[in-house]
Amino acid sequence: MRFTAHRTTTATSCEPMTDTTATTTGVPDVHAVTAATDEAMRALGRDLATLARPGDLLILSGPLGAGKTTFTQGLGQGLSVRGSVTSPTFVISRIHPSLKGGPALVHVDAYRLGGPDEIDDIDLDMTLTDSVTVVEWGEGVAEGLAEDRLEIRIERHTDDTRTVHLRPVGPRWAEIDLPGALAGRG
Ligand SMILES: Nc1ncnc2c1ncn2[C@@H]1O[C@H](COP(=O)(O)OP(=O)(O)OP(=O)(O)O)[C@@H](O)[C@H]1O
Ligand SMILES: [Mg+2]
Repeated sequence: MRFTAHRTTTATSCEPMTDTTATTTGVPDVHAVTAATDEAMRALGRDLATLARPGDLLILSGPLGAGKTTFTQGLGQGLSVRGSVTSPTFVISRIHPSLKGGPALVHVDAYRLGGPDEIDDIDLDMTLTDSVTVVEWGEGVAEGLAEDRLEIRIERHTDDTRTVHLRPVGPRWAEIDLPGALAGRG
């Protein structure tokens, strides 16, 4: 429980792109979406909230200031959770309960964690099943938490726009038509 610091706080559009990235297996599994502004990033989070179910794990990666927290804010808006979603400074994770009887949003910042062993210390499995769990800086750290996950990598461009790469992993996400779900939104 060393890193357990759960604190319950009272907590536009995106343009789907057609390019996909082939994996080593040759199967295109990445859907890329442009988010030109921070509001577009929140809108993408809200869009994904409509697909989210209890037990879902979203792993966010991307450089400092990429927009990971901004995306999570939109997700929190879409899930109608309590409290503002912010970059935690001293806490590793926060639980935002639902205001409408849906899943809570568990927002984790793994920036200071050394690796998969340390994320185990947070006891996320206590909340994983009933919540939507988002791990910022989760790449290489949080994959072991769940077989099914949505890996989201945010790329920041010199013109300050972002490309958001969505990689579904596991049967839960395989059944979701991400391009279809995100097309026409916004
Ligand atoms: N798509 C976007 N276009 C332009 N600005 C954006 C976009 N998304 C986020 N921003 C802005 O970038 C800044 C950093 O965003 P944010 O805090 O969400 O990044 P982060 O990836 O969580 O950072 P950190 O690595 O520190 O956790 C904020 O000022 C936010 O408004
Ligand atoms: Mg952040």
